[in-house]
Amino acid sequence: MSLRLGDLAPNFKAQTTLGDIDFYDYTKDSWVVLYSHPADFTPVCTTELGRTAQLKSEFEKRNVKVLALSVDPVQEHLEWIKDINETQNTEVDFPIIADQDRKVAELYDMIHPNASATATVRSVFVIGPDRKIKLTLTYPASTGRNFNEILRVIDSLQLTADYSVATPADWKDGEDVIVVPAIKTEDIPAKFPKGYTEIKPYLRTTPQPNK
Ligand code: BEZ
Repeated sequence: MSLRLGDLAPNFKAQTTLGDIDFYDYTKDSWVVLYSHPADFTPVCTTELGRTAQLKSEFEKRNVKVLALSVDPVQEHLEWIKDINETQNTEVDFPIIADQDRKVAELYDMIHPNASATATVRSVFVIGPDRKIKLTLTYPASTGRNFNEILRVIDSLQLTADYSVATPADWKDGEDVIVVPAIKTEDIPAKFPKGYTEIKPYLRTTPQPNK
């Protein structure tokens, strides 16, 4: 059974490149990006892990802990990290889970048998500090993920968790947002003192409230 938005992200214990972890203890009150890779020493994954490492400060700014996963052993992960650091000009210092027995991959439904019987697909789970699943993405092995998009979604998730707003198509941090339909137009000025624009009765925009 696959995990759905709003489900509790299940806990697990795992071996990682930074030692053994208990997922809940490791992530504590942080937001989490948990993402899987088909295999070590593969080209697309090398660029993805490198890109994640390059964006370290962006994840930290958002209070996000990153955990990667593939079903290869820790020793291979450690060897591969040397290549990633060299070729992507960075330093991978977040944990990569060594899920040789596929316990975590199965728990999070990261193996899609019609894509590969053994390797994990490119799954992404964004998990909130309440340990609920906020976002899932699934990419095939042949398509590397866009990590700017993952950061953009986290910006939206964090904003919409705190304010009665939604973010429009292609929204980026700092741009106007949409007042959710549940807020009556007459209640907007009290809730959003920066003002609002009524484009249609159901489409009201306001400057981003936390900027
Ligand atoms: C890769 O990460 O480069 C990759 C993995 C499996 C299939 C194709 C590409």
